[in-house]
Amino acid sequence: MACFIVFEGGDGSGKSTQARSLLRRLRRRGVKVLRTHEPGGTPLGQSLRRLLKSGKAMTPMSELMLFEAARAQLVQNVIRPFLQQGGVVIADRFTSSTMAYQGYGRGLDRELIERLNREATGGLEPDLTVFLDLHVETALARKSGGSEDNFDDAPVDFHRRIHRGYSALAAADPGGWLVLDGQRPPEELSRDIWARVQTII
Ligand code: TYD
Repeated sequence: MACFIVFEGGDGSGKSTQARSLLRRLRRRGVKVLRTHEPGGTPLGQSLRRLLKSGKAMTPMSELMLFEAARAQLVQNVIRPFLQQGGVVIADRFTSSTMAYQGYGRGLDRELIERLNREATGGLEPDLTVFLDLHVETALARKSGGSEDNFDDAPVDFHRRIHRGYSALAAADPGGWLVLDGQRPPEELSRDIWARVQTII
């Protein structure tokens, strides 16, 4: 029964809405389920989240290490124990975020990121990654106003590179990724996600 489902996408893609919707569906059916959101989810992760969002000057390499540190803590203390008890974990962002944002977006060495991802997670991989694919301009327009996100001010090119990264990751593992058009109505997306999740749990 243990199952690890990850939601990925650019800022404003709607993945958090879909992650919560899946959480509710599973709960209603009495499934033991937990939602995580990176960075965060542990006391150390929360401190690192605040640091990452503080706007403090940070080199891309420092940023990478902080995301990985938060993830190492979350996997070891929260995600693995929950899976070991047979639960379903829904993760709002995981290793592919680092590949897309720090690898494709910031231009850091992707092999290094792959290695760090592996070390931080002890090799844990999702059973399914849901990618909500949305045009960069549409996503940024959705996010404008009221967001606290530290990547919102980044040039649109940065977000385009992230989008290219996600598309490449999804194309490299078609069996493990469910790619959905993020422009579609949320209820439809939620139905498609549910249909796919039912085939694996
Ligand atoms: P958050 O407010 O959690 O946004 P979202 O709801 O889009 O996840 O902010 C997290 C930000 O950190 C988001 O812009 C993506 C970025 N990020 C990375 O750059 N690398 C990573 O490894 C992770 C997990 C997130």
